[in-house]
Amino acid sequence: MNYFPEIKELPPDPLFGLKARYTKDSRSDKVDLGIGAYRDNNGKPWILPAVKLAEKKLINDDSYNHEYLPIEGYKDFVVNAGKIIIGEESVAIKEDRIVSQQSLSGTGALHLVGKFLKDFYHNKTAKIYLSKPTWANHNQIFTSLGFEVDNYPYWDNDNKSLDLQGFLKAIEDAPQGSIFLLHACAHNPTGLDPTEDQWLQILNKLSEKDHLPLFDSAYQGFASGNLEKDSFSIRTAVDKKIFKAPILICQSFAKNCGMYGERVGAVHVIPSETNEKLNNAIASQLKKIIRSEISNPPAYGAKIVATILNDKELFNQWQEDLTTMSSRINKMRLKLRELLINLQTPGTWDHIVNQTGMFSFTGLNPDMVKRLEEKHGIYMVGSGRASVAGLNDGNVEKVANAFDEVVRFYAKSKL
Ligand code: LMR
Repeated sequence: MNYFPEIKELPPDPLFGLKARYTKDSRSDKVDLGIGAYRDNNGKPWILPAVKLAEKKLINDDSYNHEYLPIEGYKDFVVNAGKIIIGEESVAIKEDRIVSQQSLSGTGALHLVGKFLKDFYHNKTAKIYLSKPTWANHNQIFTSLGFEVDNYPYWDNDNKSLDLQGFLKAIEDAPQGSIFLLHACAHNPTGLDPTEDQWLQILNKLSEKDHLPLFDSAYQGFASGNLEKDSFSIRTAVDKKIFKAPILICQSFAKNCGMYGERVGAVHVIPSETNEKLNNAIASQLKKIIRSEISNPPAYGAKIVATILNDKELFNQWQEDLTTMSSRINKMRLKLRELLINLQTPGTWDHIVNQTGMFSFTGLNPDMVKRLEEKHGIYMVGSGRASVAGLNDGNVEKVANAFDEVVRFYAKSKL
């Protein structure tokens, strides 16, 4: 008797499956450009100096313990996380319009928001629009919650730039009151962000159609090294009061604090008008979801991030760490482009330096990516996304030579 008659085995997760293949590979010069996790110039995971200092301070504090957190999370963390993302001086804070809930990093935040919208958003048939392409997990988070998912054009492959007209048209064509998921900065996988002027056009158009903006902020400070600059899209939407609809933010500290496995994140819901009763209702419903799914959020990572956000010296150290990470990545972008140009690799490579954040959408096709893995031991996502953080002075030449080889190999096979 089969008690699970419908069950089928699924292929491995595109990102974690790639990681497993990389780990199994015994070649000593293999290169991991897969999962977006920062590596130092020796290819090693990096604990941020600010995090190391915060950990020490935290465990030496007499009041440190492993008690349960309240369901809404660690107060010092959630309140300060809200200030970091919308700015301490934000009009939404002054007007008491921000409801915050700690989450299991970005994925947990998206799942929580998705469940909340499914239960309470007035437009019961609203589709959720994701950028094309987007982070692989977005699609399954929302489809698993029963949402109908659609796409908006984002990446113009011919010009390796933003398809702004396509994006605006999709906003125009979507039924009033749809949900649009926006990458706040360092778009994953393309590394391509709208300019400030393009953001204004996008946000205004979304508001004209009364769409609901859902920001996914996984890379604040990681893209440019500057927390304010990397939250331009969110702060503009909030401060300019562009929306009648509430603004929803999913915030992760996985990348910008290097707290990948500790799952530190938050959800912020910002209604357009002050309404204490509504705030309390939103907070209570978010808590109910959290209680039924994870009981209460994990404490350790949240306490570390709160320690950094609350201590001027540690906060300054964090800013330095953000600059260390973003500038090393930028140096690798420049180096990779320079090497490809010197090799006269067919194609143009300026997009590598014009893109920002953890990733480059290299333009390599799935066949080339497969050959990179099999012949050269270089691992990246089939879409051609490379985690630039995996490059370092010791492997960038190997990677450039391998890119050159696979591009020429497939150029020749086309002739
Ligand atoms: C990535 O896109 O590589 C990261 O965000 C890791 C993940 O969880 O998928």
